[in-house]
Amino acid sequence: MSLFGSSPPPSASQSAEPSATGPRFLVLEGIDGAGKSTHLQFLANRLRESGQSVLITREPGGSPLTETLREIVLHSPMDGLTELLIIFAARRDHLRQTIWPALERGQWVISDRFTDSTRAYQGTARGLPSSLIEAMAQAVEAEGRGPDHVFYFDLPAEVAAKRRRDRSAGALLAEEADRFDTETIAFFERVRLGYRLAAQNRQDRQTWIDAQRSVEAIQQDLAQVMHSWLSFNAQLSGTAAP
Ligand code: ADP
Ligand code: TYD
Repeated sequence: MSLFGSSPPPSASQSAEPSATGPRFLVLEGIDGAGKSTHLQFLANRLRESGQSVLITREPGGSPLTETLREIVLHSPMDGLTELLIIFAARRDHLRQTIWPALERGQWVISDRFTDSTRAYQGTARGLPSSLIEAMAQAVEAEGRGPDHVFYFDLPAEVAAKRRRDRSAGALLAEEADRFDTETIAFFERVRLGYRLAAQNRQDRQTWIDAQRSVEAIQQDLAQVMHSWLSFNAQLSGTAAP
């Protein structure tokens, strides 16, 4: 069981049991300021301590071309459909240049955001049709492996906004505001709803986390999920559990 926190998506069921052996493709999702970057490094460290090779990546971004597209998406004015097309173009290149080769090499991949961001931001929050998003997702992800497990960090938009302000205040270099930083609390609550819907569709291949709790409490739960995966893999390969 890997349901952490008090407000799960209505009919989601979660499990820490791995659905397949071998390298795993993990994704962290949540509204801006929910804690993805904070916990991504923790997950990578747990895997590395147990001898796994890990590639950390992010969206939009994660390959030379898509880092350029990231700058455009975050800073150039455009309409929602243009934004969607660029995000999927970037995802295609990210999969082909970075994610699939890493999985082929036997690495674990941990991505800060993936297609559920598109479902939540461009779909539920901006109102672009889900039929279009699903058709594009299918085309872009068709010939390779998609995420094995998604960690959703759920946080009220007001709390996330405060954490973002505190993060900016504490930063050594001033953070450059992007197009999403100026969105309203109502927008981020719609994104949050979009994540609930996405989590329901992933059924047992996800962990829903109440991100209002302390970093330590969240990391205890993440460690438990990782331990159960690594123990399962160790049993299968006949080695000692980490
Ligand atoms: P994201 O990557 O999702 O935008 P961050 O990991 O950068 O979010 O977290 C946003 C801010 O909130 C950071 O300053 C971080 O230190 C802080 N933070 C993250 N998780 C927690 C938590 N559980 N409790 C309090 N502050 C947190
Ligand atoms: P980023 O700085 O990585 O997010 P965070 O503030 O959480 O660390 O910015 C990426 C932005 O791109 C973020 O605001 C959400 C947006 N985005 C989409 O709208 N759709 C997508 O499919 C992806 C991957 C990101």
